[in-house]
Amino acid sequence: MTASSTLVEQLTPNEIVAALDKHVIGQDRAKRAVAIALRNRYRRMQLPEQVREEVMPKNILMIGPTGIGKTEIARRLADLAHSPLVKVEATKFTEVGYVGRDVDAIIRDLVSMAVRMVENEMAEEVSERAEAAALESLVNIMQPPSGRREEPRNPFQIFLQGISPPPASEPETPAIDRATAEAKREDLRRRLRDGLLDDEMVEIEVPETRMPTVEIFSAAGLEEMGVNFQDMLGNLLPKRTKRKKVSVAEAKEILANSELQALLDMDEVSREAVRVVEEHGIVFIDELDKIAGRESGHGPEVSREGVQRDLLPIVEGSTVMTKYGPVRTHHILFIAAGAFHATKPSDLIPELQGRFPIRVELDPLTKDDFVRILTEPKNALVTQYVELLRTEGLEVRFRQDAIEEIAEAASLVNQRTEDIGARRLHTVMELLLDELSFSASEMQGETRVITKNYVRSRLKDILESEELSRYIL
Ligand SMILES: Nc1ncnc2c1ncn2[C@@H]1O[C@H](COP(=O)(O)OP(=O)(O)OP(=O)(O)O)[C@@H](O)[C@H]1O
Ligand SMILES: [Mg+2]
Repeated sequence: MTASSTLVEQLTPNEIVAALDKHVIGQDRAKRAVAIALRNRYRRMQLPEQVREEVMPKNILMIGPTGIGKTEIARRLADLAHSPLVKVEATKFTEVGYVGRDVDAIIRDLVSMAVRMVENEMAEEVSERAEAAALESLVNIMQPPSGRREEPRNPFQIFLQGISPPPASEPETPAIDRATAEAKREDLRRRLRDGLLDDEMVEIEVPETRMPTVEIFSAAGLEEMGVNFQDMLGNLLPKRTKRKKVSVAEAKEILANSELQALLDMDEVSREAVRVVEEHGIVFIDELDKIAGRESGHGPEVSREGVQRDLLPIVEGSTVMTKYGPVRTHHILFIAAGAFHATKPSDLIPELQGRFPIRVELDPLTKDDFVRILTEPKNALVTQYVELLRTEGLEVRFRQDAIEEIAEAASLVNQRTEDIGARRLHTVMELLLDELSFSASEMQGETRVITKNYVRSRLKDILESEELSRYIL
């Protein structure tokens, strides 16, 4: 298995921070904490077995106002991590017994994700063999070997005839014919391989794509039992196929796919996925502050404390049943985030507080941060707009002083109305470019330079009136 060779933990803390720096401006302490936590898991794996079991992951709680990069760090980490990572919002979960998702679903999602990852990786390993096998069956379809009948014996025939070798009374083909037939097949094989016949049509058996069973059972209850009826039924019912005319290129792909399915050992995939989750899984729980508070809910409202109590076992380490097998959550890394302005981390139940020993506060973003956020990240906002308008043939350039002015406007509005962090940049940019966005389609071949004055004149009326900025920006 090669999964371990590509895991994010193998990056040093320095490398992880450098990778995050490409997308997230500032917030160095949070980046460091995340990097250390990841590297510690790598260190743990180097320890002898008995010691290893004792080392628990150091879960992280990121605290800070809205729009300053908490979710962004997790999102970028997910891109970076080849470790299975899921991102959930605490508010989406309900206490067991209420209708809604229960927290075990987090682990089930994580495993499903790992299964896809492992499957892809293993598929890559056998893809060459699958392609070769597909080519061979295509040769057999287009030029059946001489002296043998084309159709493979289907299970039904085997059932009727018993598993005996094919009757020996096959007509003998003269050796000379067989040699020319083989030469023909070799020639066909070569032309197929070189893609010379890709556009020709061929008739093959393709699996029927539509599942005959409708989703009768809503997944909720069964999902909890870790049973997947769809899969079970799918495997019990005979695979339905139909004959279909497709191009040779398509046929290669279809056949390679089914060869691939046959070569993949799904039991091994499941086992490996469970292992990867247990040792390398990461769960990001957003909006944790929204379930903080110890009062229990009134009326139909779900108790926040109840959700915290449900979260506790998976964070502390327990075994969750999934359809791929039981999963121990003891070494999964949890990263939680929340604004915590209406509540405090101390409003969480003590057991849960204790499970997030590393607290990092993220810094509010300054005007200078805004300037950098607008321009530095790989797909910075300014770059995005420039590229969008370029598709219309309109070339837009931003002067540095214009960028400063935009950042200034954003922080001004944040101070005056509500601080929504970098999200303010989106509303400001949208308003600023409203006119160009509207008429860009008629401006092919033109160039516009966005200057400080342009920014001022576009935003002036709104910035001058607090009332207006409240609504528009
Ligand atoms: N430090 C940053 N560097 C680069 N971009 C940022 C930064 N902070 C925020 N952004 C931009 O602002 C948007 C919102 O940020 P993000 O989703 O990380 O907010 P958050 O901190 O999770 O807030 P909330 O508490 O509301 O969930 C992001 O999509 C990103 O484009
Ligand atoms: Mg967020």
